[in-house]
Amino acid sequence: MKTLIEPFKIKVVEPIKKTTEKKRERIIKEACYNLFLIKSDDILIDFLTDSGTGAMSDRQWGAVMIGDESYAGSRSFFKFEKTVKSIMGFKHIIPTHQGRAAERILFSLMVKKDDRVPNNTHFDTTRANIEFNNAEAIDLVIPEGRIPEMEHPFKGNMDLGKLENFLEENHRRVPLGMITVTNNSGGGQPVSMENIRETSRLYKKYDIPFFIDACRFAENAYFIKIRERGYRDKSVLQIAQEMFSCADGCTMSAKKDGMSNIGGFLAMNDDNLAMNARNLLILTEGFPSYGGLAGRDLEALAVGLEEVLDEDYLQYRLRTAEYMGEKLIAAGINIIRPTGGHAVYIDAKKFYAHILSSQYPGQVLVCELYRKGGIRGVEVGSVMFGKKVKGQDREIPAPMELVRLAFPRRVYTQSHFDYAIEVILETFEQRDKAKGLKIIWEPPFLRHFTAKFEPVA
Ligand code: F0G
Repeated sequence: MKTLIEPFKIKVVEPIKKTTEKKRERIIKEACYNLFLIKSDDILIDFLTDSGTGAMSDRQWGAVMIGDESYAGSRSFFKFEKTVKSIMGFKHIIPTHQGRAAERILFSLMVKKDDRVPNNTHFDTTRANIEFNNAEAIDLVIPEGRIPEMEHPFKGNMDLGKLENFLEENHRRVPLGMITVTNNSGGGQPVSMENIRETSRLYKKYDIPFFIDACRFAENAYFIKIRERGYRDKSVLQIAQEMFSCADGCTMSAKKDGMSNIGGFLAMNDDNLAMNARNLLILTEGFPSYGGLAGRDLEALAVGLEEVLDEDYLQYRLRTAEYMGEKLIAAGINIIRPTGGHAVYIDAKKFYAHILSSQYPGQVLVCELYRKGGIRGVEVGSVMFGKKVKGQDREIPAPMELVRLAFPRRVYTQSHFDYAIEVILETFEQRDKAKGLKIIWEPPFLRHFTAKFEPVA
């Protein structure tokens, strides 16, 4: 059969409220053209993030009911620990409330002033947690990874030549090395097994501990299965095990491939580091057998981490982004190609060729998609990454002006996607009418969450 169906049926539904275009026009104006400031009740289809927004399965909800809420030595912790170990193989598993808490603990212990931490591309919170320790976060993704329209099967790969030169010059200042699977900031693009292995070899050569940012490890493993020679007959679990066997530890936001609404963990082999991490954990997150989570959350995670390795699920998951991507490309819309695992990224600079980067074409596009169809995406461009020029009224624009439509796991059906595609195509047909935006208020940091905008005259 040509039709790939959602590999689940729906047992619980959450109604979504319809709004009219006229009403949305008012809502977006009141929210000062910032979609973070709109109530979720006023959103029809929410593609803001795939983080913590997924639907849990009946098995996960069943597991929630048997959560052991003991403060210490919870049975649910041991179940969670066993599952994580069976996939990742690390000796110490330290639960946290989400990914950035694991990052904060790891970097507080390992990173000091003037250190440098390489990665294919750091996610915002990884970068921010490194910079918070007065160190530098370095992105070394392959050049293809920075060109939206360039096709490459593993666009998230580390540039090994650059990494080797970087380590040769800087290794004394590199307390740990990382790689992010999939590479979220570069379009949810996968990293090949060969690249993970070689990255590991280079870090080892300089005696640098290697940590994987593992948020979307299962999507990455499935990409390896279908795109890398020699992996077609291996199970996704075996591929994931091989990926993690190259590393000394990982940070994980289980709000993604943990298939849960909250949770994360830090894992490692080093006994001393683990002891110090647990001590810090007690200070800010909680006792090491729950780390800021309830016993029921640990139960849901133990099941979610098994379910995410289901290959029917992963096939449907990757096909969803590909399906939307194909329709947009056919209509002449530029996106990051090929599509990644969890999202479609539209090139807003090409979409609105008449809108200058200084008038935020990505922000214009997220507003237009909301106005036209009640869809919420997120700008990943100059609103998020534009740099102020000191003492001037000018900004250096971000290298790309993108709009990310990220897909919650197991939440929307194909007709939701067909509707979203229709909205995007219609917005594209009317692109000439769109006008740029200007910022009328912004906070000192992370302005994209709260900045206020106004259409330019
Ligand atoms: N690393 C990557 C690659 C991520 O995508 C995220 C979160 C984190 C770390 C931090 O995890 O949110 O649990 O603290 N990404 C979300 C997103 C927020 O929308 O892409 P967290």
